[in-house]
Amino acid sequence: MRILTVVGARPQFVKAAAVSRILREKHAEVILHTGQHYDERMSEVFFQELDIPEPDYNLEVGSAGHSVQTGEMLIRMEPIFEREKPDWVLVYGDTNSTLAGALVASKLHIPVAHVEAGLRSFNREMPEEINRVLTDHVSDLLFCPAQKAVDNLKLEGVTSGVYIVGDVMYDAVLRHSKRAEKKSTILNSLKLRSKLFLLATVHRASNVDDTNTLLNILETFSMLGETILFPVHPRTRKVIQMAGFTPGANIRLIEPVGYLDMLWLEKNARMILTDSGGVQKEAYWFGTPCVTLREETEWVETVDAGWNVVVGTERERILNAVRMFTPPISHPNLFGDGTASQNIVRLLENERK
Ligand code: UD1
Ligand code: UDP
Repeated sequence: MRILTVVGARPQFVKAAAVSRILREKHAEVILHTGQHYDERMSEVFFQELDIPEPDYNLEVGSAGHSVQTGEMLIRMEPIFEREKPDWVLVYGDTNSTLAGALVASKLHIPVAHVEAGLRSFNREMPEEINRVLTDHVSDLLFCPAQKAVDNLKLEGVTSGVYIVGDVMYDAVLRHSKRAEKKSTILNSLKLRSKLFLLATVHRASNVDDTNTLLNILETFSMLGETILFPVHPRTRKVIQMAGFTPGANIRLIEPVGYLDMLWLEKNARMILTDSGGVQKEAYWFGTPCVTLREETEWVETVDAGWNVVVGTERERILNAVRMFTPPISHPNLFGDGTASQNIVRLLENERK
């Protein structure tokens, strides 16, 4: 079997690394990097730490508005897909790279498999929501992390080729947590003590593109008083720099960190404040309470379990959530058992057209 894997943004490197490892035991994989993320700390570091083979193609699309970025991907992908003639095009998550890969493949009648299918925020203002819905509707195989995603798809009339496989990010966490513990020196080098700091990430367009919203979040962080380690996404960095914001003494803004350092920080943080999808789930797997700085989440299971509270960006709600959060005693097993990648490869083999 010949698989063409499309990646482009940070979370996709983590997801694809897990599946690639299993896939390559028996099958041929062509990796296409769209170049959506390109900074060393947003891309290269993941290929190195997670042993992902060098991409066969890098489209070097880079940053631009949605239409130009997605359009360039479409234009540059088509001849490659035609030449490679894969049995499947495999796409991950909900970025512009995901949509571009799915769209090109479906127009060329190449079967599309979508990892992390069926996730919904029900907020069509999120670019990711558009990417998810469109990708799911042109996919032939839809790999869902849990039942809720299957239910979401059913509501949209998508029932064929839908499977619950678990979450590939959980496979990655299980595989790399021990390595993170052994290799990461970040707590020492930043002089952080386990459970005596909060970890924050903020990069959602709705939270950072409007300077006032982002500054309100940062000022709220200052008011918390506790040490907050904040690895800053380049999108967010740009706005902070332009606004000339000087963070409160308790906020430590640092460059994005590699995956192993990130896992170790997530495990050792007292609490995580984030608008990231992946980080909400990783917080859950490490049993670290999570405060989600959005009005809704796709990962409702973590909220239902009591380990994640969704508070938006209003100051009082954030402050109350951080101060009052009492995690429950129970910690059910959400999103599978760490074998999502194996399940995916088996289904790709069985469903090959
Ligand atoms: C993208 C995804 C988002 C995902 C996130 C993961 C879309 C629509 N959004 O958002 O779903 O959660 O990746 O991190 O696909 N930049 C750099 N260097 C880089 C990459 C980006 O400086 O290597 C800056 C550029 O100024 C760019 C901005 O970040 O304009 C936004 O990058 P982009 O890839 O468009 O969206 P993300 O916010 O990263
Ligand atoms: N991550 C990382 N370093 C960072 C921030 C995030 O390695 O500085 C990892 C994180 O552990 C998770 C993934 O990147 O595996 C999540 O990516 P991101 O938050 O950019 O995107 P989202 O999941 O929101 O789409």
